[in-house]
Amino acid sequence: MKDKILIVEDDINTLNGLAEILEDENFEVVKARNAREAAAEFRNNHFNVVLLDYLLPDKDGMELSREFLEEQPEIRIIMLTAFGTVKNAVNAMKLGIYDYLTKPINLDELLIIIRRAIQEQKLIIENIDLKSKILETYRFENIIGVSGKMQEVFKKIVKVANSDATILLRGESGTGKELIARAIHYQSPRKNGPLIEINCASIPETLLESELFGHEKGAFTGAYKMKKGKFELANNGTLFLDEISEIPISLQAKLLRVLQERRFTRVGGVDNIEVNVRLIAATNADLEKIMAEGLFREDLYYRLNVISIFVPPLRERREDIGPLTDYFIQKYAQKNNRNIKGISQEAREILMNHDWPGNVRELENAIESAVVMAEGEYIQPEDLPAYLQMTTQKPSPFQALLQNQNNMSYKEKLEAFEREIIRQALLESNGNKTQAAKKLGFTPRTLRNKVKKYNL
Ligand SMILES: Nc1ncnc2c1ncn2[C@@H]1O[C@H](COP(=O)(O)OP(=O)(O)OP(=O)(O)O)[C@@H](O)[C@H]1O
Ligand SMILES: [Mg+2]
Repeated sequence: MKDKILIVEDDINTLNGLAEILEDENFEVVKARNAREAAAEFRNNHFNVVLLDYLLPDKDGMELSREFLEEQPEIRIIMLTAFGTVKNAVNAMKLGIYDYLTKPINLDELLIIIRRAIQEQKLIIENIDLKSKILETYRFENIIGVSGKMQEVFKKIVKVANSDATILLRGESGTGKELIARAIHYQSPRKNGPLIEINCASIPETLLESELFGHEKGAFTGAYKMKKGKFELANNGTLFLDEISEIPISLQAKLLRVLQERRFTRVGGVDNIEVNVRLIAATNADLEKIMAEGLFREDLYYRLNVISIFVPPLRERREDIGPLTDYFIQKYAQKNNRNIKGISQEAREILMNHDWPGNVRELENAIESAVVMAEGEYIQPEDLPAYLQMTTQKPSPFQALLQNQNNMSYKEKLEAFEREIIRQALLESNGNKTQAAKKLGFTPRTLRNKVKKYNL
C-alpha cells in the first residue's frame, strides 16, 4: 500500500506541481485548496503526512494543524510558508507540527523530510501496537506487575491456564498467591464453573476432612444431614487449597487419591463420588523441609508439584512498588471517599526503600491507612504508618560519626562531636552567638574561639 499525503495549498500551480512530483515518487496524493476541503478529506482518509500551506483563504494553517493533531496525534504535518520567521517555527513545533519549510520549496529537502516523517511514524505505531499487545496478553484485572519477574509469572499463568494440570503456587505470605489462583481460574476454560477456596490452616483438623469431602447424614455426632464437601462443590470448576502444608498427614492419602482417581467417599459414606476438578494449591511453607521431617507425603508432593509457580517477594521486584502504590491509592481513595490525588516524592521514597517483609499485603495496608490519615491531596511521609517513617530516617549526625569508616582517631572523633554540638546550638539559636554560648555553658569568648577553630 502506498503512503498517503494530503496537500493543502490555495495556489493552484504550486498545488498541482507538488502533487505531480510526489506522485512520481510513488506516493498517493490528495489535493485540497482550502481548510474546508482539507478537513473533509482528512476525515475520510487516513493520511501519513499533511503538507500544509500556512496562509489559507479560510483558516489559519496553525489552527487547522491543531485540529488535525487533536484528532490524530500521530499525523505528520509539514508546514509550508512564504513567511518563514523563527517565531512561527517555534510556535509550530510547540504545537506538534513535524517540520517547517519556507517557500520557495527545495524539493530534495521536502522529499527527505517526508520520508523521514513516515519512517518515524511507522516505528511509533509499531511500538504502540507491540506495547498494547503485551499489555493484552500479560495483564490481569487487579494484578499489578511491571517487573520482569511478574511478567514471567503472568506468562506462565497464560501458559498453564488452558490445561487441567495441578498447580502449586509458592511464595511468601502476602505476595499475591490467592490473586493468582483466581486469575488462573478465570483464564481457564473452567471460568464459568465454580471457583471454591478453602484455607487448610483456618479449619480445625477434625473438621477438615468433612469440609473437603463432605459427610453423610449421621456420620458423626452433629451430622444431622448430608453435606457436600468442597471437592463436590468445585465440580467442573477449580478448587483452591490454600496453605496446603497444613493438611494433616492422615488426610493426605485421601487427597492423593482424589488427584489420581478423581473420586472419593464422603465421611461416613461408602459410595464413590466422581468429580472433575482442577486443583490449585498454595503454600508459603518450606514443603521440602516438612517432607523431610515426615509430615508431608512425598507422593503427594510430587503429584502437586507438576507445575509450580513461584511468586517473588516484593523486595525482589522493587519496580512494582510504585505502580502498586498508585493502584492502592486510587482504590482506597475511592473506597473511603477521600480526595487523594497521589503521593509526595519523599513519601514514595520511604516506600521504595522499605523491605516489605509482609509483601504486597503490607504495602496495601500501609497505603489504606495513609489514605485515611492524609490531610492534603498528596500523601506525605507523616501520613504513613509510624514504623515505616522510623526505618528510613536518616542516621543523626552523631550516629553517622560513630559509624564512620574513615579511621578517625579518638581525638578527631571528639572534635567532630564537639563541632557538631556547637553547630546544633548555633542552629537552634538562629546564629545568635550570645544565646548559643549560654546554651552550651561557654563564655562568649570560648564560643568565638571554637567557631573559628571549627570553621563554623
Ligand atoms: N500484584 C498485585 N496487584 C494487586 N494487588 C495485589 C498484588 N499482589 C497481592 N495483592 C494484594 O495483596 C493482598 C495479599 O495477597 P494474597 O492474599 O493473594 O497473598 P497470598 O500470597 O495469598 O498471602 P498468604 O500466603 O498470606 O495467604 C491482597 O489484598 C491482594 O489483593
Ligand atoms: Mg493467601
